[in-house]
Amino acid sequence: MIIVTGANGKLGRAVVEQLLMRVPAEQIGVSVRDPNEAQELRERGVRVRRGDFDDAESLHHAFEGASQVLIVSTGIMGKDDIPHGIQQHQTAIDTAKKAGASRVVYTSHMGSSPTSHFAPMIHHATTEKLLDNSGIAFTSLRNGYYASMALMMIGGAIKTGELIAPEDGPVAWTAHSDLAEAAAAIISDQKWNGMTPNLTGPEAIDMEGIVTITSEVLGRIIRRIIVSDEEFRERMMSQGVPEASINMRVGMFLASRQGDFSQVDPALAHLIGRPPKSFREVLKESITHQQG
Ligand SMILES: NC(=O)c1ccc[n+]([C@@H]2O[C@H](COP(=O)([O-])OP(=O)(O)OC[C@H]3O[C@@H](n4cnc5c(N)ncnc54)[C@H](OP(=O)(O)O)[C@@H]3O)[C@@H](O)[C@H]2O)c1
Repeated sequence: MIIVTGANGKLGRAVVEQLLMRVPAEQIGVSVRDPNEAQELRERGVRVRRGDFDDAESLHHAFEGASQVLIVSTGIMGKDDIPHGIQQHQTAIDTAKKAGASRVVYTSHMGSSPTSHFAPMIHHATTEKLLDNSGIAFTSLRNGYYASMALMMIGGAIKTGELIAPEDGPVAWTAHSDLAEAAAAIISDQKWNGMTPNLTGPEAIDMEGIVTITSEVLGRIIRRIIVSDEEFRERMMSQGVPEASINMRVGMFLASRQGDFSQVDPALAHLIGRPPKSFREVLKESITHQQG
């Protein structure tokens, strides 16, 4: 049975939908924190069990009979020596192994590196190390930066007409739906061992490009205003943004202007058999969704 964690979240649920087009529902199980939210999957024949990475017993039950486990990263940072999210991933990897799974597939990120300026990339690199040390076969999906994060960044600018942020660099923004399809193809076809190539959108665009496209699509001008990292920090602080969150945002700009997320790779297009969605398409879909 293929087990998908995080299946009440955006990526995990989209992977399950893609798997349902490839394998019978009885061969899919989801491990979710709230089974009620997955009732619709249960009605379609998917096994739904409660699984919380902070509760190993629940994971044992949720991973029972696993042939493969997709571990959707929790994105939880934590502040201790062993950050909370890493401990969660370790528990999930150990449990997958104990359940007899032949492979773990993990949602990592392009730019995963122990020396990244952007904290989540250090966490992904640490988890990849855990996978490497675990002795279980694994595939680490080097997912591109979600286009939905660019939508979040311009959300405020759409209201004010100004995107105020530090200097950045081009990012190969990638759609959740394309990444989900790629993950399902990799799981069902048993493709790839170890790190995948970067699974990216079709073009790398910086914030200037994002505001240009958004202005064109909306038919009104949004301006890109570059401020220093320090000024950005002060602005965020005056808006009451917690320091950890400010550090994370500044880290993202530092990493992007170093080019950590700029590579455009053909692997995603090959996996899904068509060009991945562009940022412009994701933006238009989001506007249509909001209007509808
Ligand atoms: N590629 C990128 O650009 C990018 C950007 C941001 C984040 N990410 C990473 O990609 C992951 C998936 O993205 P997404 O859009 O699907 O995010 P999402 O909708 O927030 O889903 C995250 C999932 O993690 C689950 N989770 C959190 N804590 C858990 C725990 N203790 N035990 C079990 N499951 C737990 C959540 O469960 P519930 O549904 O019960 O809350 C949720 O289903 C994120 O979690 C993050 O690590 C990637």
